[in-house]
Amino acid sequence: MSPETLTRRAASARRVRPAKTDFDLAIIGGLGHVGLPMGLVFANQGLRVALYDTHAEKVALVKRGTMPFLEHGAQPILEAVLGRTLEVSSSSDVISRARLVMLAVGTPVDDYMNPNLRAIVEVFSQLSPHLRPDHTIIIRSTVYPGTCRRVQQLLAGSGGTPHIAYCPERIVQGHAIKELSELPQLVAGLSDQALADATALFAPIAPKIIPVSVEEAELAKLFANAWRYIQFAVSNQFYMIARRFGMDFNRVREVLTDGYGRAATLPTAGFAAGPCLLKDTMQLAAFNTHNFLLGHAAMMVNEGLPHFLVEALRQRRDLSRTTVGILGMAFKADIDDIRDSLSYKLGKILRFHGATVLYSDEHAKDPSFISKEKLLASSQVVIVGVPHSAYRNLAVPDGVELIDLWGVMQPSGTSHADHLAEHPRQASRGLGRR
Ligand SMILES: NC(=O)c1ccc[n+]([C@@H]2O[C@H](COP(=O)([O-])OP(=O)(O)OC[C@H]3O[C@@H](n4cnc5c(N)ncnc54)[C@H](O)[C@@H]3O)[C@@H](O)[C@H]2O)c1
Repeated sequence: MSPETLTRRAASARRVRPAKTDFDLAIIGGLGHVGLPMGLVFANQGLRVALYDTHAEKVALVKRGTMPFLEHGAQPILEAVLGRTLEVSSSSDVISRARLVMLAVGTPVDDYMNPNLRAIVEVFSQLSPHLRPDHTIIIRSTVYPGTCRRVQQLLAGSGGTPHIAYCPERIVQGHAIKELSELPQLVAGLSDQALADATALFAPIAPKIIPVSVEEAELAKLFANAWRYIQFAVSNQFYMIARRFGMDFNRVREVLTDGYGRAATLPTAGFAAGPCLLKDTMQLAAFNTHNFLLGHAAMMVNEGLPHFLVEALRQRRDLSRTTVGILGMAFKADIDDIRDSLSYKLGKILRFHGATVLYSDEHAKDPSFISKEKLLASSQVVIVGVPHSAYRNLAVPDGVELIDLWGVMQPSGTSHADHLAEHPRQASRGLGRR
């Protein structure tokens, strides 16, 4: 559909909208990692935004002007818009007072990796008294394919709105404020009004609007995360092969990608964790009646990496007499989110084999964590769980064994210059992975 057609439809859709609302947009799940940065960006654009969330502590914190998690660039925007164009609320009343409604709640798979549609259905069942027939609901959460139409049927059955749009979120966590204005936005709608409203909402912030069908958008989002997950699995499998033969994967990757564009996207090895990649790969597998060999293989490789590291360590050491320090407990560099972090799985496996395990993180807070300095001084083995910037070129004391898949730290017995020479790409061009 051409941009002109979209604009025409937006104009005609607006003619039937109610005259006055208190908010341009209400976000359900508004204090999550997706909802909050999104709300801040729109409020900063001058839209009147209400963030509705059921998490009482986060509501209290954000009402006081404090970000509940690390999101680069978010705190100053929160301070600037709170009480002006941004309202934070634990009362669902704000939904009926908004022109547009966005859904950004979590959509986890269950304990057996099956999609859990009930989570979304329950949200809409609870909130239906606040939804008007003329509302457009923009679904931002990642959903199992077919969910948007199910929501439409559910709401239509109870006399609610048929105007459902799906605009998947594709930011990398922690960098949403920047990426929301850099990434093209996929926009899909199950009615002309839904498509037009979603287009009009995102057009001022996204560099490009890509109109698609709802089914294409649902699949594109899952493909994006499964693709990323599989890419990490390829590197992790290569890492394990290289290690089994006593070779340095980073060195092989360096020579392989040097001036060779076809391999340029090969990521570094490292834990592929967090609440999205595995979950969405499994949603895609479920959608294809569990016939997704590459996705399942990727899960085995990525989830198997902590086991591989521990098994290799057990060949060299009696773990019951070893103190192992894990540096970095967040699931990704330079954020404070520990959801589904593989550093915890690594710690559990080590403890199962009798090791004493110490944890440290630069951003995530936990009373049991110790400082990186104390961890380095107290451990016989140090494993980098996530390559926070603060670990770059950190020196490991003499005699301490370092396991550093990313090559960020300085092993004992090497000078800073030696280390940069060993990993020239990481030193000069970043880690090749975020
Ligand atoms: N985190 C990411 O980087 C990312 C990126 C792309 C897509 N996604 C997708 O976006 C969705 C949200 O992910 P997230 O990481 O922001 O989750 P999150 O857990 O950080 O945020 C969800 C928020 O919803 C709130 N909530 C839950 N139930 C609610 C209800 N009934 N009413 C109001 N609020 C409610 C929670 O308190 C929480 O603040 C998921 O589908 C996820 O797959 C996440």
